Amino acid sequence: MSADYPSMTTAEIRSKFLNFFEERGLKLYPSSSLVPDDPSLLLANAGMNQFKEYYQGKKTMKEIGAISCQKCVRTNDIDCIGEDGRHLSFFEMLGDFSFGGVSKEQACAWAFELITKEFKLPLDRLYFTVFTEDDETHDVWRSLGVAEDHISRLGEDDNFWRAGPTGPCGPCSEIYYDQGPEFGCGSPDCAPGCDCDRFLEYWNCVFTQYDGQEDGTLVPLPKKNIDTGMGLERMAAIMQGVQSNYETDVLRSLVAVGERLAGVTYGEDAECDLALRIIADHSRSVTFMIADGILPGNEGRGYVLRRLLRRAIMKAQLIGIEGHFLNEYVDEIVRLMGDVYPEIVENRELERGLIMAEEDRFGATLRQGQAYLEEALGKLEGDVLSGEEAFTLHDTYGFPVEVT
Ligand code: SER
Repeated sequence: MSADYPSMTTAEIRSKFLNFFEERGLKLYPSSSLVPDDPSLLLANAGMNQFKEYYQGKKTMKEIGAISCQKCVRTNDIDCIGEDGRHLSFFEMLGDFSFGGVSKEQACAWAFELITKEFKLPLDRLYFTVFTEDDETHDVWRSLGVAEDHISRLGEDDNFWRAGPTGPCGPCSEIYYDQGPEFGCGSPDCAPGCDCDRFLEYWNCVFTQYDGQEDGTLVPLPKKNIDTGMGLERMAAIMQGVQSNYETDVLRSLVAVGERLAGVTYGEDAECDLALRIIADHSRSVTFMIADGILPGNEGRGYVLRRLLRRAIMKAQLIGIEGHFLNEYVDEIVRLMGDVYPEIVENRELERGLIMAEEDRFGATLRQGQAYLEEALGKLEGDVLSGEEAFTLHDTYGFPVEVT
């Protein structure tokens, strides 16, 4: 299938989304820091995080709702990153939020208008899911013109959204784009919610009506709220007619940095492509996390940062990129995104210094571990390294098990 609507850059999509909702009276908020002002969260993982107290009724705003383009970091799916076209550790989330000022019907109607009239996505490629028992949202999509066989019902795992173990949450309805059977797994059961790349979930509309408590109970919130999140990189893939986030304007430019440094061409070797994608993704998390004041460390968000940094360094080594290299990515990230996120420009020297220090430290770890590993392999009887040796490498030398 080829795209039959006009192509748009990431920057154009961001502006169109925000302008659409500003024209309808929602107030634009800047992205919050990746370090949330909320002890229950390690890192900002959704646009709604900064509005938690509005959902809880502790704060109010005079406008009918808010919009933002939020920097997010999620590493719960770290093993999928680079393996498929849609999981990222760093991404931008476009969202509209309301705390009683916008009804579910209105929020869905706006979402529908934006994707079909403004972005001009063809209805026959759009699929909608609703929470199993949510007849109301099913009926709203039907009334907007969605065919019955383009709406399906999914359970809690897919269609009940929470930012973390506690806090505002609720049933949700996800909007998918059918990228075509050629990108699917071929299973007769393949449908929205399948793990393959065919049905791309790109907009989640949450009807935030509960406050989740530590004991698991769901306390109804004072108002019926709206929290929607559109993955900007996923929308860019759709609007640019490419199958993977890594082929969109911004991320493809970062893949190109790796191509240049490693002297390779993307698309020629599966292992190499995987490394190029992982480094492109992780380099953005690293840059934005340092810009927001996170330092590499052994626990909490510092550990998340260190892990992403080290994974990027490891993957680079696998494709022959040695020495200091990550700042080449940072330069490109600053060029591509610095106008929207000035903090990455202002903290350029901090990013540079911390990254080089970590490259040196981890380089030394890898060299020591490698020497130990080579000695152990030299003494090997048979062809399997013992678990004990792998553990020593990990525990004493800090050598990553993946490399072993
Ligand atoms: N909070 C929801 C999500 O992150 C929608 O914004 O998917």
